[in-house]
Order: sequence, then structure tokens, then C-alpha cells
Amino acid sequence: MEKENIYILGIESSCDDTSAAVLCNDTILSNVVADQKIHTEYGGVVPELASRAHQQNIVPVVHQALEKAGVKKEQLHAVAFTRGPGLMGSLLVGTSFAKSLAYGLDIPLIDVNHMQAHILAHFIDEENHNKPPFPFLAMTISGGHTQIVKVSNYFEMEVLGETIDDAVGEAYDKSGKVLGLGYPAGPEIDRRAQLGNPKAFQFTKPKVDGLNFSFSGLKTNILYFVQREVKADPNFITENLNDICASIQYTIIGILMSKLKLAVKQIGIKHIAIGGGVSANSGIRKALKDAEQKFGWTSYIPKFEYTTDNAAMIAIVGYLKYLDNDFSDFDVMATARLKI
Ligand code: KG4
Ligand code: ZN
Repeated sequence: MEKENIYILGIESSCDDTSAAVLCNDTILSNVVADQKIHTEYGGVVPELASRAHQQNIVPVVHQALEKAGVKKEQLHAVAFTRGPGLMGSLLVGTSFAKSLAYGLDIPLIDVNHMQAHILAHFIDEENHNKPPFPFLAMTISGGHTQIVKVSNYFEMEVLGETIDDAVGEAYDKSGKVLGLGYPAGPEIDRRAQLGNPKAFQFTKPKVDGLNFSFSGLKTNILYFVQREVKADPNFITENLNDICASIQYTIIGILMSKLKLAVKQIGIKHIAIGGGVSANSGIRKALKDAEQKFGWTSYIPKFEYTTDNAAMIAIVGYLKYLDNDFSDFDVMATARLKI
């Protein structure tokens, strides 16, 4: 007998992107993301505006995802949604919508941990992407997260270290703000970094024991450095922008790689999977390639659209939980500080 195809709708609304995806088994049929331009005016995500935009976006985004996939809502086997962590107002929109839809269609509801989803995005079936073998180390790096996790199985994960203050993407974005770059500044710093001298300026590396991270000291260090230099020479930024970006990137990638090296040494696993928006960074990609040559690591980077916040990663977790009959009660609550 042929195996039945399983169709899952995934919904992600934890921060500033409203996203819906439809998956058939472990293959993504559609992954629609509506990003919220409104926040660029403010140089960061404004939670209240984010939840309002989610309310406006969620119906058309879900509709579009189903249409693109060519799947009718009556064909769905389950609705998976982000329970947390994230902004409470934003999470509530996705949670309420997912509950109503699953209830109306009389199909299971599946709650998903956003941090697990960033990692399990590696199990989406995708050409030219190898799935990491268990156990592996996952590093999630984005505007909201910086975490190293030991992944022993799909739902057997242990956080080995995380940021005690800012996330790595925040370090990029806040440094960019000091330099007068637009938000988010990560991609622009990365682009300029490739044109500059990484050793032109030195910034302090945080002293955080073990596998935890800290980026707020670096941010302050960059701010004071730029203020001091601009006082002496008002053209300092424009004349040195590529070198400043290269030096910032060199420092940040150095921090990420030194923690990864420590994790590999402590845990003895050389399979490294990265995810989150900052995994698009050319510096981290190059450093991982070098580590493959130098230390015999194997690195895994998902397709870009599955690294930033997206519903495809929520849908794949929904599928894995569906196979385990791991469903949620309808009184499940959005949880802003949900842990792995
Ligand atoms: O995963 P993401 O889209 O959203 C969350 O924060 O969850 O990540 C966005 C972050 C922003 O901070 C952005 O500046 C950063 O990822 N980013 C980059 C690059 N592309 C995006 N940072 C450094 N280099 C890049 N190429
Ligand atoms: Zn995220």
C-alpha cells in the first residue's frame, strides 16, 4: 500500500515577520514571508506595531501559502505554530489564528519551539543540502538569538551556551547605527567588510567563561571608539568605513569561532550546523570552510530562506511531531520565554 502524504500548515509570528508555509512530508511546497517594513523607520522592531502588522498579514499570508502550494485547507493534516520564544503580542496572533483554524477544520494543533525550529530546519528535504547526522552541534545566530546547542536527536537538545545580553545580529545592527548605516545593518557591514582591512582597528573581545556569549561590551567599545575618532576628524567614518566594518566583522567572527572551537573540544563533536539570519554572513561561512580543512569539521548551512525567521521551519517541526502523534491541547498558551 502506498504511504499517505502528510500536509502540514506552519505559522510563524514570533517577531517581525508573518510567515506561513505548507509542507508535504519533509518537502516544502510554499513558504510565504511578509516582512514588516514599518520597523526600519525606528531602527529596530517595535513590538506593538509588530503585533498589529501580524493581524493584518496573517489571513492573506496563510491564504497565499495554501494557494502557492496548490493545497486546499481541507487537505491539511495539522496546523503547527510558533508557541515561543518571542514577542508576546506577536506570538498571540499566530497562536490564536492556528487554534481557530485547527479547531474549525477539526485537525490536530501542534505547538513549536522557535529555537528548536531554527535547528530542525536542517531536516527539510532540499537539493544540495545534507542533513546533519546525530549528534551534532548547532549554532543559531540571528538578530534575536545566539545559542550553541548539542542536538542528540530531533527533540533531545541541550543548550550549551547562549548570550547573556545582546544577540550577535544586534551587535551588527547597533554597530551599524553608530556608523550611520540603515537597519538591519548586518548585510551592509558584511558587504563592506569584504572590501576593508580586518586588522585596521582593534576592538575588545568579551571575557565570558565557558560557552556563553556577550556582545554589549563590544557595542559600547565601538561606540566610544567612533565618537573619539570623529571628534578628532569629522570625516573619520566616511574615510574608513570599509576598514571599520572589516574590523568589526573580524572581531565578531573571532568570538563566534572561539566559542565553537571550545564546544567542539569539550563535547567532541565535529558536525556543526548553523542557522539564523547571521548565517548568511560571508565571514562565518569562510571561517567554517577553513575549519573543515584545518580541523576536519563538517559544516551545514541551510538554504537562506530557511535560516531567517520563516514558517517552513515551523512546518517541518510540525511534521516530525505529527509522526510522533505529539499534539497540543487547545488551551496551550503562547510563551514569550519558552526554553529549548
Ligand atoms: O533570522 P533573522 O532574519 O531574524 C531574527 O533576528 O530572528 O536575522 C536578522 C539578523 C539581523 O540582525 C541582520 O543584521 C543579520 O541577521 N544579518 C546579517 C547578515 N544578514 C543578516 N548579519 C551579518 N552578516 C550578514 N550577511
Ligand atoms: Zn528566529
